Amino acid sequence: MLSPTNSPIVAAYVAKTPGSAALHAKASEVLPSGIAHDSRYTDPYPIYTARAAGPRKWDVDGNMMVDFYGGHGSHLMGHCPPTVMEAASRQLMQGTQYGSCHALEVEWAGLVQALVPCAERVRFTSSGTEATHMALRLARAFTGKRKVVRFLRHFHGWHDHMAFGVDNHFDGTASPGVLPEVAAEVVLLPPNDIEAVKACFAADRDIAAIILEPTGASTGMIPTTPGFLAALRAACTAHGVLLIFDEVVTGFRVSAGGAQAESGVTPDLCTLAKILAGGLPGGAVAGRRDIIEWLDFDVSAEKKREKVKHQGTYNANPVSAAAGIETLRMIRDGDFCARATAAAQVMKQRFNEVLAEEGVPWAVYGEHSVIHFFTNPQGMAVDPLRWTPEGQQAALMAGEPRGELMKKLYLALVTAGIDPKGARGAILSSVHGPEEIAEATESWRQAIRALKQEAEL
Ligand SMILES: Cc1ncc(COP(=O)(O)O)c(C=O)c1O
Repeated sequence: MLSPTNSPIVAAYVAKTPGSAALHAKASEVLPSGIAHDSRYTDPYPIYTARAAGPRKWDVDGNMMVDFYGGHGSHLMGHCPPTVMEAASRQLMQGTQYGSCHALEVEWAGLVQALVPCAERVRFTSSGTEATHMALRLARAFTGKRKVVRFLRHFHGWHDHMAFGVDNHFDGTASPGVLPEVAAEVVLLPPNDIEAVKACFAADRDIAAIILEPTGASTGMIPTTPGFLAALRAACTAHGVLLIFDEVVTGFRVSAGGAQAESGVTPDLCTLAKILAGGLPGGAVAGRRDIIEWLDFDVSAEKKREKVKHQGTYNANPVSAAAGIETLRMIRDGDFCARATAAAQVMKQRFNEVLAEEGVPWAVYGEHSVIHFFTNPQGMAVDPLRWTPEGQQAALMAGEPRGELMKKLYLALVTAGIDPKGARGAILSSVHGPEEIAEATESWRQAIRALKQEAEL
């Protein structure tokens, strides 16, 4: 546990956030680790946010931060875009759960169909985790095969097929509470290794699907190499394996049609959430009609097969649908994806200039609107302005082994006025303008200097 007594960085964080400390003490009496999502675990304690608007948020102590977590990636246009909030508020007063079909879900699905290349049909879920769960179930039903292939460190939510091989259990063994029998049906492969994929397909005829984050683990922290998606598409088609793109983060962010539209590689199925529902809870699985029709009552009856089951109280929730419709319309008609990407690329350059000026052998990298901090755990010679992630080891890219440095980097950034994506990067939106980027660059410099003063760098 970090202590303020021997770390000025921790001391500064603690001094600035007494309200969060008090809330966390209370939270720990009722919530495990005082939190509701593993990635919010913070040593010594997380900040508690009171409100957010545009590119900023304010904690319970009144500290204003430039926000670079963007609601875990669910905000492409910053917090509370006015027309999205109006649409959701209007719907809130007309009913939050009808227990019946409604017109909004029809329009929402139509927008997904129009924007996302693979989306011949759409089924809404309540979260991204539920979407990846359903995608795998559909793939098994459609192919009649049992196994799925995933790539090491790619994240697809927390259900039983996904709860290992992301930040531990790289040997494919089950993490606590997961049945070893379930883990045994999941094949973990190294990312970007098409020969490993082909060898796996050739050796095992029981692979139903392969799922991946199309831009790479953690939205590009370990980037997908050029040509890999197309090669994967060809291998899947050749072996009758379904290709699933997990576009929970990249969907409507990388481009209006997601990574599949940008790369020109169309998967059989994709999973969507986050921006899909305009910052409210919601998800979807979308894809080929003949696969998604395994959910269809009439088609299943006609084909004399038992349909895939799927319920969900909050599927296509009308408030989420109203926010989602307005968000997707704006993305369809505007340049929000491009603006977020442009902002991220400027910030990447500024952060790398700071690293070069401060003589720190780290680098900031990443395409699109999510950028990543390479913190160089092995102390290699790195020129921040020239470094590229190609060929680097996955563990190093993830900042492992993780010591106190990563924890302190996060605390130092928060104290200096920005809320990053943990200690590993930043998610930008279309409303991160020159002012926010200038402030963030100054915060980055302050944090780097604080780490130097504490002999962490
Ligand atoms: C790529 C990816 N897939 C799936 C999920 C799970 O989505 P949810 O948190 O909505 O369950 C996430 C969440 O961050 C994600 O990043």
